Formats: sequence, structure tokens, C-alpha cells
Amino acid sequence: MGRSVVYGVLLLLLVANVSFCQAQTVEKYFKVGDTLQLSPQPVSAEITSIVWKYDKYLLAEWVKDAIDLTYYSKFKVRTTLNTTTGVLEIRNMTAADTGLYSVEINNQVQSQVYQTVEIEDVPQPEVEVKPLACDRSSTCGLKCYGDITNAEPVTYSWKKDDGEWEDGQDRRDLTSLEMDSVKTFTCRMKNPVSQKESEAFKNPFYQEKTAGTESE
Ligand SMILES: *[C@@H]1O[C@H](CO)[C@@H](O)[C@H](O)[C@H]1NC(C)=O
Ligand SMILES: *[C@@H]1O[C@H](CO)[C@@H](O)[C@H](O)[C@H]1NC(C)=O
Repeated sequence: MGRSVVYGVLLLLLVANVSFCQAQTVEKYFKVGDTLQLSPQPVSAEITSIVWKYDKYLLAEWVKDAIDLTYYSKFKVRTTLNTTTGVLEIRNMTAADTGLYSVEINNQVQSQVYQTVEIEDVPQPEVEVKPLACDRSSTCGLKCYGDITNAEPVTYSWKKDDGEWEDGQDRRDLTSLEMDSVKTFTCRMKNPVSQKESEAFKNPFYQEKTAGTESE
């Protein structure tokens, strides 16, 4: 008997694990003080009941003609639930509001859940030559630098002179053509809550043509 109980428990754990994995987690980034908006997946029927949960706790609840719209715990004074759409809005988000948000519409638990992640603005980036002591004979690159410890996920773009922004990495190599022909490089950092650009960085390899052959 002992063994079959063990197998039974293992099977249960397996099933529980599988159903957990089927939940589709959407990361939702926010900054302290932001208003966070979470939407349920669309349902075809009229919405007659809504339960939003924060981790395993009730956050907001409404059942047509049965339970008045009710907000719970720390969310009480800063939450609005639209009972027509199921859209939840939480104002003045704090770091302590990081967690897993899930919703049940018309008594159906939705598979899509939201993981909220608190992040900070990206820093104002600076462009640096890498390696610092590089010269024309070695491979030179540029780095878009700034402390992004609490700002991930960050993406980067680069601009040559007054050109278009181009997506890239935090580092880029300089071609000899660029060394000769580009006056300034600008980089931009972007994350889901902010974006900032560096000042135009003067290309140290660029040399103005001598007087007479000047061409701007
Ligand atoms: C709920 O959302 C719908 C659609 O966006 C909007 O028309 C309606 O005014 C909202 N209801 C409330 C109470 O805000
Ligand atoms: C939310 O923040 C605003 C200022 O940004 C403040 O006026 C308001 O009282 C805050 N509300 C709550 C519920 O903390």
C-alpha cells in the first residue's frame, strides 16, 4: 500500500506541475508611482463575475447581482476595476506590489498571469571608446555606458551624426570608414518605463579636412 500512495502523490505533483507550466506568464514592468493596468484575455460572453488575485490573496471581486465590487487589503484605496471589461487599474505602484497577478472571469481561471517587476529609469548614458587606448591599428569600438543595475531589461540604439537611430548592442565596433567620416556618435538606452540618450560624442578619430577642401 505504501508504495502506491507514494506513486499517487508523485503523480499528483506531476499533474500540478504540468498545469502550473501551462500558465502563460507575461512580465509587466513598472516604476514606483506608476499606474499599472492589467487586462484579462478577451471572453466572448458578457462578463458576470470577476476575481483578481495578487499571489494567492484576493485583490478585487465582483459578481453581477450578487457581490458588490469589493477591493481588498493594501489595494483598497488605489484600485479601479472596470466590471464591463475586467480591466484592473492600480495607482501609485510600490516595490512591494511586485508579484503574480491572476484573474478569474465568469468562474474560469485564465491561463495568462502577470508577473509585475519593479524597475528604475535608465541612466543618462555616456559614450566611451573601447578599449580606451585603441588606435587605428587595432579594433576600436564604442560603448554605451551607464549603471543599469536596477533598470534591466535595457535595449540600445546608436545614431551617427544626425542620422536615423539604429538598434544595436551596448558595444559597437568602429569601421575605418566610420572613423574617417562620422563626426559624432550618440547612443540611447531604453527600457519598458523610460529612455534616455547620451550627448553627441565627438569621434576622436575624425579629422576636419584642411582649409580649402572643407565640405560640411
Ligand atoms: C469600462 O470600459 C469601457 C470600455 O473601455 C468604457 O466604455 C466604460 O466607460 C468603462 N466603465 C467605467 C465605469 O469606467
Ligand atoms: C498617489 O500619488 C499621488 C501623487 O502622485 C498622491 O496625490 C495620492 O494621494 C496617492 N494616492 C494614494 C492612494 O497613495
